[in-house]
Amino acid sequence: MTSMPIPMSEATATVWSRWFITASLRTTPRLSTSFRLQEQGVRFQTATDTEVIAQLIAQHLNGDLMSAVRKVLPLLKGTYGLAIVSPRDPDVIIGARLGSPLVLGIGQGENFLASDPSALAGHTNKVVYLHDHQVCILGRDEWTIQDLNPDRAPPSISIEDIDWDVGDADKGTFEHFMLKEIYEQPEALENAMRGRLSDTDASAHFGGLNLDTQALRGMDRMIITACGTSYHAGLVGEYLLEEIARIPVDVEYASEFRYRNRPIERNTLMLAITQSGETADTLAALRESKRKGHPTLALCNVVGSTIAREADGGVYLHAGPEIGVASTKAFTSQVMVLTMLALYLGRMRNLSSVQGLRIVEELRAMPAMIQRTLACDDAVRRIAEKYFQANNFLYLGRQYLFPVALEGALKLKEISYIHAEGYPAAEMKHGPIALVDEETPSVFLIPRGAVFEKVMSNLEEIKARGGPVIAIASENDEEVAQQVEDVIYMPEVPEYLQPLVAAIPLQLLAYHIALLRGCDVDRPRNLAKSVTVE
Ligand code: AGP
Repeated sequence: MTSMPIPMSEATATVWSRWFITASLRTTPRLSTSFRLQEQGVRFQTATDTEVIAQLIAQHLNGDLMSAVRKVLPLLKGTYGLAIVSPRDPDVIIGARLGSPLVLGIGQGENFLASDPSALAGHTNKVVYLHDHQVCILGRDEWTIQDLNPDRAPPSISIEDIDWDVGDADKGTFEHFMLKEIYEQPEALENAMRGRLSDTDASAHFGGLNLDTQALRGMDRMIITACGTSYHAGLVGEYLLEEIARIPVDVEYASEFRYRNRPIERNTLMLAITQSGETADTLAALRESKRKGHPTLALCNVVGSTIAREADGGVYLHAGPEIGVASTKAFTSQVMVLTMLALYLGRMRNLSSVQGLRIVEELRAMPAMIQRTLACDDAVRRIAEKYFQANNFLYLGRQYLFPVALEGALKLKEISYIHAEGYPAAEMKHGPIALVDEETPSVFLIPRGAVFEKVMSNLEEIKARGGPVIAIASENDEEVAQQVEDVIYMPEVPEYLQPLVAAIPLQLLAYHIALLRGCDVDRPRNLAKSVTVE
């Protein structure tokens, strides 16, 4: 070991911000290691724990990068997904994973390493998922995967084909991936439904549930765990599954669930919802559920992702790669799959074939309804021009549209950096109404439905306090239009399907406001597409 300062150029463990080759170490060992290295004269150039790994590799480097990596990895505690490059041999990348995802992309005259296969769209369709305790070496024309323990037999390797379309990797005629993905929603919903709806059975079918009818019929409760937008889709799922399938559902943030020791009744099915299939908290919640012996299902978009592989069964969204950090088409696809799941489970319990068939037909109409909703884009842009300088927004809805209010607020926060609160509209009077003033727009989700009159009276309470209101209302609803400053119309659909259409104007509103504020819509600050660390 040297006590001389080691320049970063000796070895670099790269953190790629977009597709996040990441490393996270538990705090105590990280600090003690970095203190020890500093005592030995190492000067750190960043404040990231990843650099500790780079410095350790540099310390152990004696000509052969792979052997230095092999010596350092057993010293690390915590999770990591590493891409290690040395300027002495820039055509070679060494990859290693423990707990964080890593996928190798096989090209022609080029190979790739990423933590999410979406990053490889447009480059290659052939991927190999690395497992924990594996390392790989990539050159331009060759690659190998080895076990970290050299005494173990070489791992068996399976090369998987990913079903990308040529256009998935570029923005086409759109300025941003987020806008492209918003406009892809009619097609994404078609793909989510393809081959899964049956007129004969008046129901839905899923290939990969891996649970027989008896097991599903005997299920008394469902717990959904997820994060962020997927959590909001889970909340919509709670309303759907309880109303259509009459199954009691709880929805929990995966990050909370994983450390809670909540009593879970027998016959409870655990459902993880995740676009990427790699979110660390959702993965930990899934593993904890399995450890406790509960059957697990996953709703994932990314084929072959860790959660898709580890769940007992699951359903793919088939939404295609989602590249914008703000999730859009994955949200509506998740809600669509949850609706089909509710139909499927409902048909085993309480739904007649007549009711089932009606739902099948209403679902089939949704892509056209989304297409029609997208026509609001110009109106939304004009409204964005009016309000983009506001510092606070409120998003309000009830019942099926309460989770959509949460999702609208999240979209605005994450890409425009404006503070936004999503609330059940009737909860305003219990405190948040104090926030209302002339500078704070409220976005009201108020299409016609069972609680229309109730939401209308919530809206009047906001108006009475001088708050400007942007209403998302049913087409041609003059009564609402007369009450509010601005209105965006959505087509009339049955109440349980309103989240699918109501989400669209909120996605567009966040998009246009972020653009007007000069924000990087596809890559908002401080965020990564997959959150593979705790
Ligand atoms: C959504 O716009 C966010 N980028 C984020 O909340 C995301 O939904 C969350 O990190 C969960 O990701 P997952 O669906 O891939 O698990």
